Amino acid sequence: MASNPRIRKAVFPVAGLGTRFLPATKTVPKEMLPIVDKPLIQYAVDEAIEAGCDTLIFVTNRYKHAVADYFDKAYELEQKLEKSGKYEQLDLIRNILPPHVRAVFVTQAEALGLGHAVLCAKAIVGDEPFAVLLPDDLIWNRGDDGALKQMADAAEATGASVIAVQDVPHEQTASYGIVATDAFAGRSARIRAIVEKPKPEVAPSNLAVVGRYVLDGRIFDLLERTTPGAGGEIQLTDAIATLLAEKTVHAYRFKGTRFDCGTHLGLIEATIRYALDHETLSDAARGMMKNALSELGVVDLD
Ligand code: G1P
Repeated sequence: MASNPRIRKAVFPVAGLGTRFLPATKTVPKEMLPIVDKPLIQYAVDEAIEAGCDTLIFVTNRYKHAVADYFDKAYELEQKLEKSGKYEQLDLIRNILPPHVRAVFVTQAEALGLGHAVLCAKAIVGDEPFAVLLPDDLIWNRGDDGALKQMADAAEATGASVIAVQDVPHEQTASYGIVATDAFAGRSARIRAIVEKPKPEVAPSNLAVVGRYVLDGRIFDLLERTTPGAGGEIQLTDAIATLLAEKTVHAYRFKGTRFDCGTHLGLIEATIRYALDHETLSDAARGMMKNALSELGVVDLD
């Protein structure tokens, strides 16, 4: 069997302004908002590391020091925790990244779109297949491999680029990249067309792109030639549309539940799910939710 390269590098575009979550995001980047006990960015980072990535590239802007600080060593805090014998907490902040993983920060000077953000990572990624993870899309899995690991395995087996997809209600196509594919074999299907945020009347399907991509390094040359598209932004989707003429790109229906943490409801839904599934908090969280629902008269649980 031909062996294809395994992805090693993951790009995290985190330069967005997060205006939906103002006023919270006036000072805290949206990627640092917590889901139970970890910031959103940590979930995406853990998923990339599980998939085999050892180089994490954060595309940030000058306001997002908190993201860089989070992945940096906190000497003073570590010393204080050590002195006071708080070893459990010490472990938590020491093991944010395992020793074999490095974090690299690149700035996107202007918010010119997702495609432009990914292009900012070109010099660090080079010419190899790599991952892009949008931390807003949080993908929950119980027991199974994370979404990116599933996709990296598929990419390694076939040599194709792989893009995560899920079915969405037809009236929501204008919020997503939408793909048209050949018939699915298992979880994969070859993509024949991809379009950014089409209105329902012109959408080629209900199959929406979710923020996980395994892409051929060739995408960088194509991004350099991509002109502004939907919303006046340089779109990753448009460069992928050009890639389709040169390389095989697969849509991949991943195993897992995706929460759109770029919206208030998605963030709430994710918080509830992770709390109900949490190792130590789940029983208490269940009880609290039961009480809240019954006190507010939402449901009669007696
Ligand atoms: C981006 C992509 C879009 C994709 C979506 C998934 O859009 O441009 O193709 O479907 O992420 O979350 P955004 O939500 O950043 O506008």
